[in-house]
Amino acid sequence: MFKQSVVRAFGAINNTALPTTLAATARPAMRCFARPLSSTTMRSQNKDYDGKDPKIAATTQAPQGASGSQEGQFARTDESVQIEYPPDSEMPKQPIVQGRGGMHFKRTLASFSLENKVSMVTGGARGLGLVMGQGLVASGSDLAIVDLNKAEAEDQAGKLIEQFRKENPGIEQMPNITAHYADVANPDSVNEALAEVLAKHQQIDNLVTSAGFTENFDAISYPFDRMKKLWGVNVDGTYLFAIGVAKHLMERKAPGSIVMIGSMSGAIVNVPQPQAPYNAAKAAVRHLAASLAVEWAAHDIRVNCISPGYMLTALTRKILDENPQLRDQWTSLIPVGKMGVPEDLMGAVTFLLSDASKYVTGAELRVDGGYTVT
Ligand SMILES: NC(=O)c1ccc[n+]([C@@H]2O[C@H](COP(=O)([O-])OP(=O)(O)OC[C@H]3O[C@@H](n4cnc5c(N)ncnc54)[C@H](O)[C@@H]3O)[C@@H](O)[C@H]2O)c1
Repeated sequence: MFKQSVVRAFGAINNTALPTTLAATARPAMRCFARPLSSTTMRSQNKDYDGKDPKIAATTQAPQGASGSQEGQFARTDESVQIEYPPDSEMPKQPIVQGRGGMHFKRTLASFSLENKVSMVTGGARGLGLVMGQGLVASGSDLAIVDLNKAEAEDQAGKLIEQFRKENPGIEQMPNITAHYADVANPDSVNEALAEVLAKHQQIDNLVTSAGFTENFDAISYPFDRMKKLWGVNVDGTYLFAIGVAKHLMERKAPGSIVMIGSMSGAIVNVPQPQAPYNAAKAAVRHLAASLAVEWAAHDIRVNCISPGYMLTALTRKILDENPQLRDQWTSLIPVGKMGVPEDLMGAVTFLLSDASKYVTGAELRVDGGYTVT
């Protein structure tokens, strides 16, 4: 069982003192809640159990632990597992993907092309959003990157253009790639970003909502303000951008496609790290996609959800470098035996935004190496 205690950092947000066991490895500005596993309540015990039959020891007729310490070992959350995330100023950079965006002459369906489309990606400055945005550009789309971190969005927009030019020497028409600030959880900020994107691109055809984050507290210790923020970004942020883009599409009487980035956590409970509010938020995102798909079907606006499994981004790489046991535990639970990489989402998101998926709406596409089917 994974026993190592790690800490979730909130950058400058929390300044509560650390428990002494964690203080040596933790950053100064962080809060953590560590409780031993033994605090788990025992299920009721059968007084008639005599301890002689090993098969009965493995059933509900025996008390917990009667058949060994393996009981529930790979199926439980562990309250002591708290993952350290760096503050925003120290977030590792996501490198631009090399060698995928050039012109090619392989036969493929034209309906996968996003030529003459404008796609907007929230949370597009880093991680999955950045790489999905790059996939959309490679597939013919213009791109508006929207992010809380505008400086990073601008930097990455420049790098995407540079990479595209390198991979397409002599190309006549370069893609239009722009960077914009938004706090997706704030309706005014969302409206301002939408107006800015429209001023630069004149239209928005596709939306990918990738702005989101997770954090790990056991449910009882979860600070309420943090929970509200988590749901604000993951759920409200998805909703606000979706309705903004849908309104624009309806005014234009244009078809469009929206892809919401959920997570396999919206369907299963990850172990060992506890993250109940995140799991619930991602379940909400999935069902929001289904609900809006029905509501907007008559307007030719499709809404789908991609639910990634464990993906190795610059951020998860840092976390796993610091917690190799976690990597082993995660990969032991994935049928494919590997974590995904952000590039594994390029095709999935292009498919769902393009005409290749014209009859697909309200669907959830899990890109998780089979995690959720076991
Ligand atoms: N990485 C994984 O293994 C994984 C797995 C399943 C689902 N997801 C989901 O994929 C999405 C992207 O995750 P990631 O791993 O790329 O994370 P990331 O932290 O690398 O990138 C998230 C981006 O969102 C931006 N962002 C955060 N809060 C914002 C806000 N309020 N307004 C605007 N932008 C904001 C950040 O600045 C960052 O650029 C998230 O919704 C996440 O829950 C990730």
